[in-house]
Amino acid sequence: MTKTNERSIRKDEHVRYVLNQTEKNETDFNRVHLVHHSLPDFNLEDIDLSSSFGVINWAVPLYINAMTGGSEWTKDINEKLALVAKATGLPMSLGSMHAAIKDPSVESSFSIARKMNPNGFLMANVGADVPVEHVHEIIELIDANALQIHINAAQELIMPEGDRQFKNWKQNIQQIINTVDIPVIVKEVGFGMSRETISSLLELGVIYIDISGRGGTNFAEIENLRRKNQEMDYMQTWGQSTVISLIESEHFQKNAHILASGGVTTPLDAVKCLALGARAVGLSKIVLERVMNDGVDNTVQFINDFIYQMKKITLLTNSRTLKDLNSTPRVLSSELENWKTQRMGN
Ligand code: FNR
Repeated sequence: MTKTNERSIRKDEHVRYVLNQTEKNETDFNRVHLVHHSLPDFNLEDIDLSSSFGVINWAVPLYINAMTGGSEWTKDINEKLALVAKATGLPMSLGSMHAAIKDPSVESSFSIARKMNPNGFLMANVGADVPVEHVHEIIELIDANALQIHINAAQELIMPEGDRQFKNWKQNIQQIINTVDIPVIVKEVGFGMSRETISSLLELGVIYIDISGRGGTNFAEIENLRRKNQEMDYMQTWGQSTVISLIESEHFQKNAHILASGGVTTPLDAVKCLALGARAVGLSKIVLERVMNDGVDNTVQFINDFIYQMKKITLLTNSRTLKDLNSTPRVLSSELENWKTQRMGN
């Protein structure tokens, strides 16, 4: 089998296994409580969830996070996701795009997103080892408004065919940042980040960080299923949840723009992320499931409703803007407090 075929099959398998993953993982969202206000100072129409951070201005603090591309089937999926993004105004990221450079025959599985949504906010996505010259070509391919670099060491190590070499990542990320003139977001893929990781990223000059935590799409589980030998089942709880990753990021939120993703499935989860300091919230699996099971129009309705619900919850915390939400009182469970206390001493 050629490398191209292998890659296309892997992309399809990722989507198929994600869609079959019905088991819910622990998200920690139920360990964060926002405080209800019975006498709001605002009307629902006053609520403004627009989010401006660095040079990015988004009308709502939600985006469709990186998923797919690289095969015929995933081209179809990206077309549908792009139509959802266009109709809702949501920014959207493509899945890892290096395949398009290695094999131009799959280019259109990514560029379809720009074709469907000419004026939308599109994010290119590459791994941390992709050479700078390729990154520039990838950005051009979709005329990207921002670039995501995924740092997925855990996923690579779990995949038998995955990378084993990581020590050049930092230098490569720095080179990319120095030569790319659009915002560069470094993201996890569902294992979450620690404050040590975030601190290292800041040292490299990264200021946009998606902590993408544990609790949703679980690549340890997916890779085990792909190999059907359950060899690394014990890694399925590895990593920090999205909530814990946000807590880890708190100290850096003045110097870095923190984005949250990983296991966000309800408007309340999303508002909790914003209250914990996220500038915007990424949705992957939930949008994929919707678009594949219910089609584009229903997914558009789902997202518009999601945003409307987020506004209602924001009002009930007596907040009007994201800034207000970020200082709204919240109560953490003893498990989360315990995590904070133990980590503070280190
Ligand atoms: C992903 N994710 C991902 N991330 C990335 O940076 N590059 C990629 O190519 C992919 N591929 C991919 C495929 C599929 C099918 C899924 C569902 C996800 C990870 C994604 O962007 C996100 O970080 C995690 O999925 C966590 O969010 P959810 O799915 O729990 O909302």
